Amino acid sequence: MSSDKIIIAIDGYSSSGKSTMARRLAKTIGYRYIDSGAMYRAVTLYAMRHALINPDGTVDAPRLETALPEISIDFKVDGDGQQTLLNGEIVENEIRTLEVSNHVSPVAAIPAVRHALVKMQRAMGETKGIVMDGRDIGTVVFPHAEMKVFCNATPERRAERRFKELTEKGATVTYEEVLANVMQRDHIDMTREESPLRCADDAVMLDNSAMTIDEQNDWLLNLYRSITGKKD
Ligand code: DC
Repeated sequence: MSSDKIIIAIDGYSSSGKSTMARRLAKTIGYRYIDSGAMYRAVTLYAMRHALINPDGTVDAPRLETALPEISIDFKVDGDGQQTLLNGEIVENEIRTLEVSNHVSPVAAIPAVRHALVKMQRAMGETKGIVMDGRDIGTVVFPHAEMKVFCNATPERRAERRFKELTEKGATVTYEEVLANVMQRDHIDMTREESPLRCADDAVMLDNSAMTIDEQNDWLLNLYRSITGKKD
């Protein structure tokens, strides 16, 4: 069966707006959208619930590694959005808390966790027609993706967006806490040994600090059209 569908990899810093525009592009062009960060968050939630995070914030990596075969992650399309399922339970809200954000980077730095999730992500892309966002999608998961974007914005701008998102959901956090979390995650994501966050050589860079969501969406759709020659 021949298909002219492609793989679209959108990487970048935390809260750089990549998920919003990736989800929108997928909807516009009829592709499946996968938020790979949600998968790392779901594993983190599992670890928190099973006391695999030590009191000092480090992760009990050997025990988490042993538990990996018991963790299943799925996505369910729900209207305009998407729900993340952890072992069949919808955990979309639970995985977005600041507590999960505070523990996710050390979990995502564990090689066995990355190998397991990368394997699942590659399986999801087998039939193409997918937009996946994350940190290592264009470098590790799909190094041959036909379209790659690397997104960035200033830490302050990203913290502002994340703070707005969290407080709109009723969370009681301060802007300073969110900024500290954004900067700490940048540091861990960029300096970890296994698949550190970096821009693929063949990715198109986008700094969206001064862009509105509509401007980002248009920019991404135009890039897709110029790569595929399609008008949809
Ligand atoms: O995109 P996000 O903020 O929801 O991602 C949560 C964490 O997961 C982030 O701190 C880094 C990690 N992550 C990763 O290491 N690789 C990915 N492909 C996606 C996310």
